[in-house]
Amino acid sequence: MSFAARPSQSDAGDDYLVFIAGLKQLWPVDLTQYRRGQMERRIRSFAGRRGITNLPDYLPMLKADQDELHRFLDHVTINVSQLWRHPEQWKALSEEIVPELVAGTNRLRAWSAGCSYGAEAYTLSAVVRQAAPKAKVQITGTDVDRRIIDRAKQGRFTDADAREAPRDQMEKWFEHEGDMWIAKPELRFGMNFELGDLLHMSVPAGSYDLIMCRNVVIYFNEDVRDSLHGRLAAALRPGGYLVIGATERVAAPGPIGLQPTHPFIYRKA
Ligand SMILES: C[S@@+](CC[C@H](N)C(=O)[O-])C[C@H]1O[C@@H](n2cnc3c(N)ncnc32)[C@H](O)[C@@H]1O
Repeated sequence: MSFAARPSQSDAGDDYLVFIAGLKQLWPVDLTQYRRGQMERRIRSFAGRRGITNLPDYLPMLKADQDELHRFLDHVTINVSQLWRHPEQWKALSEEIVPELVAGTNRLRAWSAGCSYGAEAYTLSAVVRQAAPKAKVQITGTDVDRRIIDRAKQGRFTDADAREAPRDQMEKWFEHEGDMWIAKPELRFGMNFELGDLLHMSVPAGSYDLIMCRNVVIYFNEDVRDSLHGRLAAALRPGGYLVIGATERVAAPGPIGLQPTHPFIYRKA
């Protein structure tokens, strides 16, 4: 039996902590590791729209109604993404980093960590295949949200998802049907999507040439973020790259073997 999800005596008067402990029985993610201010505001505003002011009162509703639980989790996980998001990073990847990574090996093993509905992973697949057409490409996308992983596997995107994407690349790698863009088989080849909680995943050292973990750690407490960056650095092979979000930072790159090379991009020594 695990007591990890039970609130302690001192938490008993704190309805937020009581709520997230109870939520863990329905969804196994530890929200105590996420920045409280931001997460609490999101949860209170969502529950408030249902007339809930004391958060634990919301738990029986979530337990009884799967659709309500899914709506709530969609709100909590913040799945915002976009194809070719942060175009300047894709330019650096395409022109400098991918050619360097495949030199000599002609293969690229990459991880989109916190991939949401797959926009980042499919963009990466297009950018790598364009920059290194002969390379063997393996791209894994992981996310904590099971429903978003199911969506990522479909490889379907809207015109809004493609608003910053180069039109010629969209037409080369996607079929355009109505207002949807559907990934072609040659773009999907070598890609897979899996459920995974970054707070608990352990990855063998040196497994990847490239890891993209963008716009995910902004939700975590700083010590959780720093420890995750350490584990991501360990999962890179020497000479591999870590790409983070444009509002994020690696607090102390040197001690975890990373050197900044471009804005929000680090190379493993
Ligand atoms: C804002 S999206 C970022 C998507 C993509 N990386 C990008 O930059 O466009 C954040 C994603 O992180 C995921 N996430 C949050 N906590 C996570 C965790 N503990 N483990 C894995 N993924 C997590 C969310 O489900 C969400 O899909």
